[in-house]
Amino acid sequence: QVASLADRYESAFDIGAAVEPYQLNGRQGKILKHHYNSIVAENAMKPVSLQPEEGKWDWEGADKIVEFARKNDMNLRFHTLVWHSQVPDWFFLDEDGNPMVDETDEEKREENKELLLERMKTHIKTVVERYKDDVDSWDVVNEAIADGTPNERGLRESVWYQITGDEYIRVAFETARKYAGEDAMLYINDYNTEVETKRDHLYNLVKELKKDGVPIDGVGHQAHIQIGWPSIQQMKDSFNLFTSLGLDNQVTELDVSLYGWPPRPAYTSYDAIEEVRIQAQADRYEQIFNLYEDLKVDISSVTFWGIADNHTWLDDRAEEYNDGVGIDAPFLFDENYKVKPAFWKVID
Ligand code: XIL
Repeated sequence: QVASLADRYESAFDIGAAVEPYQLNGRQGKILKHHYNSIVAENAMKPVSLQPEEGKWDWEGADKIVEFARKNDMNLRFHTLVWHSQVPDWFFLDEDGNPMVDETDEEKREENKELLLERMKTHIKTVVERYKDDVDSWDVVNEAIADGTPNERGLRESVWYQITGDEYIRVAFETARKYAGEDAMLYINDYNTEVETKRDHLYNLVKELKKDGVPIDGVGHQAHIQIGWPSIQQMKDSFNLFTSLGLDNQVTELDVSLYGWPPRPAYTSYDAIEEVRIQAQADRYEQIFNLYEDLKVDISSVTFWGIADNHTWLDDRAEEYNDGVGIDAPFLFDENYKVKPAFWKVID
């Protein structure tokens, strides 16, 4: 039995993994119990999974994950109450079944906004009331910031934004706090939080929200990163910036792709992956965990977006950019659940 990741970092932060309900058994279940003390649903707690039709709830997958966390005394992150993706279409249809975004009449637009915010509140209330005793950290709003600067504040122009402006963000946090209670930790989660422009847009937003008394406790940094990007300094600056606002930081979706962007050309089999890449990846993991540990007071949790290389959303992206054939291998465990060089760098 090899040393445990969670034990190694016990005094610094939680070590988590994103899972699908079927991964809780067998080999993967064993790895989870040994190496991780925190868990998050990769898809099972997204709006489309929980409330595919208005008022029709499907708790099966989510409940399994909650049960597993309970039984094994693990912390639970909830991902995610509000997002522009993986949210069912019915959320954004008006009373007549037409897309809210198409409405031009001012009065009706106002009605639609109220309707959408009501739906959001109902969703949040129902979910939070069910899981509040089990969840430690909530991703309340995911990916609210745009990659460029489509508007002065850099807010993503999602349907949420088009219909409510930034109100959906405020109301989401207020509703989450109302039902989750004072002790719940509420996060705004995003990717590329290391990139200066995006980071500063997020910073300005969070600062403004805090000033207005919106209950927000921390920033989730997804950290879908690459071997050579972003720099350690960029990561450090970002953590420090949000710490300066009195916020907690969590690393919420860590994976280190073997590729740049776009992921092309991609390896087409695990055997083809060159040793130098795996070594470079290991060195990279060493650097980032050194950083996380130096900053230990400011990071309460580090979650990988998967367990082992046989199951990663990055495969879909490698395929997408390589005519349907391509794999990635971003984790500490390989496709056969064997520890990789990166594992030892993280442990040592
Ligand atoms: C991804 C899942 O890993 C995939 O299985 C799914 O098809 C799409 O979503 N940012 C997020 C996560 O916040 O929810 C995404 O998860 C990855 C990017």
